[in-house]
Amino acid sequence: MKILFLDQSGKPGGAELCLIDIAKLYGHNALVGLFADGSFKHLLQQNNIPVEVLKNQAIAVRKESNLIQGLTSLGQLIPLITKVVKKAREYNLIYANTQKALVVGAIASFFSRRPLVYHLHDILSTEHFSQTNLRIAVNFANRFASLIIANSQASKTAFIKAGGRRDIVEVVYNGFESKNYQTNESDIKQLRQNLELQGKIVVGHFSRLAPWKGQHVLIDALAKCPPQVTVILVGDALFGEQNYVQQLHQQVAKLGLENRVKFLGFRSDIPQLMAACDLVAHTSTFPEPFGRVIVEAMLCGTPVIAAKAGGAIELVEHGINGFLVTPGEPHELAQVIIKCLQKTEITATIAKNARITASERFDVATINQQIAQLLSEKIQQSPT
Ligand code: UDP
Ligand code: GLC
Repeated sequence: MKILFLDQSGKPGGAELCLIDIAKLYGHNALVGLFADGSFKHLLQQNNIPVEVLKNQAIAVRKESNLIQGLTSLGQLIPLITKVVKKAREYNLIYANTQKALVVGAIASFFSRRPLVYHLHDILSTEHFSQTNLRIAVNFANRFASLIIANSQASKTAFIKAGGRRDIVEVVYNGFESKNYQTNESDIKQLRQNLELQGKIVVGHFSRLAPWKGQHVLIDALAKCPPQVTVILVGDALFGEQNYVQQLHQQVAKLGLENRVKFLGFRSDIPQLMAACDLVAHTSTFPEPFGRVIVEAMLCGTPVIAAKAGGAIELVEHGINGFLVTPGEPHELAQVIIKCLQKTEITATIAKNARITASERFDVATINQQIAQLLSEKIQQSPT
């Protein structure tokens, strides 16, 4: 099967990293069409996945856009849609990985008569999106998609609640290659030394810097933890959230935590950094659609505390393979951090348990097979 994948982002967020693992399987029978240039293109190339930037300027993604703005940006999409229609004729299937890709892919699917699959990586609720954007996404998906792959039960439920068709949605979790998360003890020791973390208790946060990812909650919690606890914030503002970055620096200064919070920016050595942490905290203040970082921490054998909402509840069972806390409650988060650090034996057992179960449950080969099966069951292939 020849697949034309579409993604609007030039930068590698979780949805893009998930796409790499799926597209890799199809080798030269795949093409990833991007709507913006950037480091995601290089990552695809490193993975030997054919990629083409179909539009040189990023499409402005405004979560709060109204109908007029929506229609205007639809007009701006016409040259891109024309390109995608032409490309799609060389493929059996269009696989949209983001919301703008859904809109473009849907129209292209109509004109090229190719089936459309939408990989839903979002919780389509008003917490995350404007009413207009929700309406556009649900209507395009309902009308044009043959199959919707939701990244969690939470994303599926929100889609149906927003008016989405139940009969075309299947839940498939992100897959991971567990061997990529096995690290070498001496490398980790060296990394801790390089980062000047020796003798510290390290709590890591791995997410792009964005208000709903809740780095501010962890900083507030840190102020309530003993002085040997240090936080590393791994990730950058991928989608223009510079104000939030400034706010975080101000918060750190105001709380006098300059020596206990390190901003490491975007990194490609996530497994090593996670292994160098004593704990990983996930602190999203809105429901997380899936939460790759939660599974990745488990695969590294690092105990994880996650915000109890959305997909995180499907990944973490409190006290069994991790810990759950109320979103946006720094006091509770601090208490759980302190408890984990006191009860080291129980915490280590939980992390060990998480590593074993996560490597079975999220095995990338099994999950790719699941997707391949769904594509062949649900999609009537068009001749190329
Ligand atoms: N990530 C990364 N470098 C960073 C920070 C994050 O490669 O500096 C990766 C992280 O390992 C995870 C992804 O970015 O695989 C984020 O995915 P997640 O599902 O947690 O959140 P999203 O940003 O997609 O909402
Ligand atoms: C999105 C979601 C994140 C999810 C990722 C992969 O970026 O925000 O929760 O893990 O997609 O499905």
